Amino acid sequence: MKKVAIVTGGSRGIGFAISARLARDGFNIAVVGMREEAACGENLEQLSKAGVEWIYIRADVSNTNDRKRIVEETVTRFGRIAVLVNNAGVAPKIRADLLDMSEESFDYVLDTNTKSNMFLTQLAVKQMLSQPLQGKKRGTVINISSCSAEVSSVNRGEYCVSKAGISMLTKLYADRLAGDGIFVHEIRPGVIRTDMTSAVTEKYDRLIEAGTFPIRRWGEGEDVADAAAVFAGDNFLYTTGNYVDVDGGFHIRRL
Ligand SMILES: NC(=O)c1ccc[n+]([C@@H]2O[C@H](COP(=O)([O-])OP(=O)(O)OC[C@H]3O[C@@H](n4cnc5c(N)ncnc54)[C@H](OP(=O)(O)O)[C@@H]3O)[C@@H](O)[C@H]2O)c1
Repeated sequence: MKKVAIVTGGSRGIGFAISARLARDGFNIAVVGMREEAACGENLEQLSKAGVEWIYIRADVSNTNDRKRIVEETVTRFGRIAVLVNNAGVAPKIRADLLDMSEESFDYVLDTNTKSNMFLTQLAVKQMLSQPLQGKKRGTVINISSCSAEVSSVNRGEYCVSKAGISMLTKLYADRLAGDGIFVHEIRPGVIRTDMTSAVTEKYDRLIEAGTFPIRRWGEGEDVADAAAVFAGDNFLYTTGNYVDVDGGFHIRRL
């Protein structure tokens, strides 16, 4: 029986790269997104080419009932959940200085990025706990946070707070679930070429040119998917609650 992965925000950008990679690795995929399925273009069809089954669940991860539906529809279709990838995320609609940040923007970003992570994970791991151990593993949660969990950007502070919150959720859930064979990991992407960064392409082109990132290129969704594939697989079973930077070495402090 094929394993099943839920990938939130899995129809484009980093999430799609993860969906495609896990499909190639033999997972059936529940892709979650806000857009209509028809708007996802050819991406979802590519999953079929990998020879796996997939469903698209149109849902808002910041909505309580939608989160329940994500888990229910996945279990109804596939019977179980092996992996949850909490990838869906948003940047603030307006980049405003910390002193001008609105409560509305703070709530929007925290609800989408962090509250959703807390409560979708809660639902998914309850399902995993009802499933038998497979070897030493019952399930995996992979959280896509950001270098912004560590790095200050004073014109999008709510995003930084939201990602730092995901880092603590990673540790909390890893601690709570280690004894149950559920592994929890965090990936911190740096600057990855997706729709999210398309509005600031020139800025990041300049930083790459200037050597801000020791590996002097844009990150690609596939770079993040490579890390996710390792965590989703059957190895790496004495590690939980950690993060890995997928950032071209950006985190290295230099003199
Ligand atoms: N790109 C980067 O440089 C970078 C760096 C560090 C971290 N990250 C993180 O990586 C993750 C993916 O980013 P990306 O660059 O691939 O972004 P993206 O291209 O903007 O895609 C975001 C995805 O999240 C989904 N999404 C947003 N809000 C949602 C909601 N309320 N409910 C359900 N789905 C929702 C979107 O769904 P629709 O397709 O239906 O709109 C879309 O599939 C995010 O958490 C982001 O913070 C990105």
